[in-house]
Amino acid sequence: MSAISNMPATRGQEEKGNPLMRRERIKIDLLIHDLKVPLAVIEAGLTSMMKRQDKYGPITEKQERVFKRALRNTKVLKTLVGDALELGRSGEGIVSFSNFPLADLIEETLVEILDLTDTVMSEKLKKCETLLHFKKTLEEKGVILSIDETLWEQKIRQDETKIKQILRNLLNNALKYRKNRVELSVDCKEDFVIFSVQDDGAGIPATYHKRIFDCYFQLDATSTCSVRGHGLGLAGVMVLVEDMGGEMLLNSDEGQGAKFLVKIPLKTDK
Ligand SMILES: Nc1ncnc2c1ncn2[C@@H]1O[C@H](COP(=O)(O)OP(=O)(O)OP(=O)(O)O)[C@@H](O)[C@H]1O
Ligand SMILES: [Mg+2]
Repeated sequence: MSAISNMPATRGQEEKGNPLMRRERIKIDLLIHDLKVPLAVIEAGLTSMMKRQDKYGPITEKQERVFKRALRNTKVLKTLVGDALELGRSGEGIVSFSNFPLADLIEETLVEILDLTDTVMSEKLKKCETLLHFKKTLEEKGVILSIDETLWEQKIRQDETKIKQILRNLLNNALKYRKNRVELSVDCKEDFVIFSVQDDGAGIPATYHKRIFDCYFQLDATSTCSVRGHGLGLAGVMVLVEDMGGEMLLNSDEGQGAKFLVKIPLKTDK
């Protein structure tokens, strides 16, 4: 397993020491921030058309499908805007600690991810009342959740938004690159929470274990796959993990799947 947490200077430190870069960052953050209002208007409009048919007139089943897809994608955009702003805040050392149950964190993250591709599954997950039922439902999707009952009920103190962002990126990658299976394991040891996201896909050759954390780097950059991303997710995850004083380990080799392990210190102060 290679430790990759002690990477060169973080973006946050570089920016803080450079007023020009800091001003540029604020301008970009403000632009991103201003996307929130039109997005909220689009979301509210689509929701009203579907839910207030008494007011706006009836819609056909086909139209409803189109509205739902548009609404899902508006939510993706909202998440992306939130993520981009959170990265800026993180670079400035802003953390928002709260006490939250691991169950809520994991449920919300998985429902949010699956909602984008499989609403039937996300609706089923929302209705699960026990951990066992939740795990069994996820297995239909090839997702294995390893966490015990006691931990599931446990509350931790950390920055929930940042942890969600980390998990969302690692899980999205695992779901994108897996053959059949993704396993999310959660454990708490001493004052740390440890998440491991493992898949059974093509894996990452050892020579690329550092480079995949560089902005815009993609192993399959020439691929025409429709779900390709931007090569930014892991770079962002690294910034967040570092800002929280955590570490990230990668265990992978060609043809062997990939396992990303994130260890985050927990706060004990109130
Ligand atoms: N679980 C994985 N298995 C195999 N390769 C992976 C895995 N996770 C990441 N990679 C490789 O690392 C590259 C960088 O990942 P990263 O999450 O930063 O970007 P992305 O997923 O391509 O796009 P984005 O996250 O910006 O939507 C990926 O393009 C892929 O080549
Ligand atoms: Mg990604």
